[in-house]
Amino acid sequence: MIKIKEEIAGYIEKATSIKKEEIIENIETPKESTKGDYAFPCFRLAKEMKKAPQIIAEEIKEKIEIKSEIIEKIEVVGAYINFYINKKILAKEVIEEIDKAEKYGQGTIGNGKNIIIEYSSPNIAKPFHIGHLRTTLIGNALYRTYKYLGYNTIGINHLGDYGTQFGKMIEAYKMWGQEYNLEENPIDKMVDMYVRINALCKEDEEVLEMCRNNFKLLEEKDEYCTQLWNKFKDLSMIEFQKIYELLDIKFDSFKGEASYAEDKEKIIKILEEKGKIEESEGAKIVELEDVGISTPCLIQKANGSSIYATRDLAAIMYRAQTYDFDKCLYIVAYEQNLHFKQIFEVAKYLVDEKYQKGLKHVSYGMVSLPTGKMSTRLGNVLKIEDLLKETIERAKEIIEEKNPELEEKEEVAKKVGIGAVIFNTLSTATIKDQVFDWNTALNFQGETGPYIQYSFVRTNSIIEKAGYIPKAEEIDAEELEDEYSFNLIKLIYNFQDILIQVTEKEEPSILSRYLIDIAKAFSSFYNENKIICEDKKIQDARVYLTYITGIVLKQGAELLGIKMPNKM
Ligand code: ARG
Repeated sequence: MIKIKEEIAGYIEKATSIKKEEIIENIETPKESTKGDYAFPCFRLAKEMKKAPQIIAEEIKEKIEIKSEIIEKIEVVGAYINFYINKKILAKEVIEEIDKAEKYGQGTIGNGKNIIIEYSSPNIAKPFHIGHLRTTLIGNALYRTYKYLGYNTIGINHLGDYGTQFGKMIEAYKMWGQEYNLEENPIDKMVDMYVRINALCKEDEEVLEMCRNNFKLLEEKDEYCTQLWNKFKDLSMIEFQKIYELLDIKFDSFKGEASYAEDKEKIIKILEEKGKIEESEGAKIVELEDVGISTPCLIQKANGSSIYATRDLAAIMYRAQTYDFDKCLYIVAYEQNLHFKQIFEVAKYLVDEKYQKGLKHVSYGMVSLPTGKMSTRLGNVLKIEDLLKETIERAKEIIEEKNPELEEKEEVAKKVGIGAVIFNTLSTATIKDQVFDWNTALNFQGETGPYIQYSFVRTNSIIEKAGYIPKAEEIDAEELEDEYSFNLIKLIYNFQDILIQVTEKEEPSILSRYLIDIAKAFSSFYNENKIICEDKKIQDARVYLTYITGIVLKQGAELLGIKMPNKM
């Protein structure tokens, strides 16, 4: 497809000394169509060129010699150079492109580069609660989008399956295992056992000692302890998988923390050889003061155990070797900012520079419910499973009320409920905190998942009413030159550009925003233009535009992890 921004940037590059990439970044798309379709602001050139930006804009415009038909006109307004697109040519381009693409917007720019996305990573024997919702959904959306653009993506679930708490769990199981039927609601029961053993440990020093010993045995690969640990892990996985299935989320690897515990010695050896290890009250640490991080990175506890950071360092080495990654993204809450700063610094001594530079923490904000912050201690942790169930239930009530005759209500409610949770989660910028509120997420008229689904369903029913999908080569693009049709065409044209931005900024909310823009533009198009009408030529063009709007809505939603119902 024609790359309009690049073409414009090419002209400006020739007329100035600014680099093409920089120009592309600065090109704007004016909201009002009277100001052109693309605009280049000249303010920032004023200082360098010691001239008024308006004059610079005029001078650049004079130097531009348009070579293709897609740009119809250039105008200077104030400090802006405005470019007007030939509507017919763009519409034709978009129609042809969608018609020939197997999947519209799919790309090869990833060129097989290896991208690791580490996401979800819940802790075994602990609740899979809404604190893990964003990592799971952001990771999944990035995974899908990268893949769609031709990257070789590797999705890793870095399971939290290691830690001294398992020594306690083993002791609890020995003492009370008989009392619990762990096959049923295993995580709740394991949490219960854990709370119970913790209370006992506080009273009884001897029990605590037994727990410590269990953990030691586990580290030494004692058969009985390992078997129990496996049991806890398997039971937890069954519950996690239920959620992943519900959300249709897959991973290429579930290699958890425990598998890296043994690499501690290797890491200490390398760091020692490089003179980076220091002793501090019996523990081994790496000082990071000289790079501006005042808290040192702990590598080994005084009792000789590995810690979270050591296992992460081992994982970096393993991933570099196994996947030869170009980027390794960690989708983890901002509470762990310091941890990632530390390990990325220490990684400089463990892996090649090219790998170290590819490490990136995609930090996200907290989710809370309108009732207040979620906290384990207050007992108001909300499990992802319960959140999804509740949302599906509420979606069903709304559907029941709005469209009682609908077929397959259960299936639709599931898509709408889950879609509402996903869209809501992905509509806030990653770094910001967010509140999950059912009324907002399920508002069919708001900027929500159900609204996107509803818009898609509407495109379907229009096509059904028309009774046919026109052939692309028969569409007269001139019939799509009105403001509303053309707005929609421009948005559809931008689809791949949006996906590229999602990967460049690691920000799925760019895509969710885009889908809202499409849905709104479609709604204006639909309200202003009669689609089914007397004039067959006009009708064909409008039905076709409706059809391709549906394609982009569905494909975009799928990349976020949202499924479209055909009716709702
Ligand atoms: N299991 C951890 C938690 O639930 C998240 C793991 C994040 N990933 C990592 N490589 N440290 O808090």
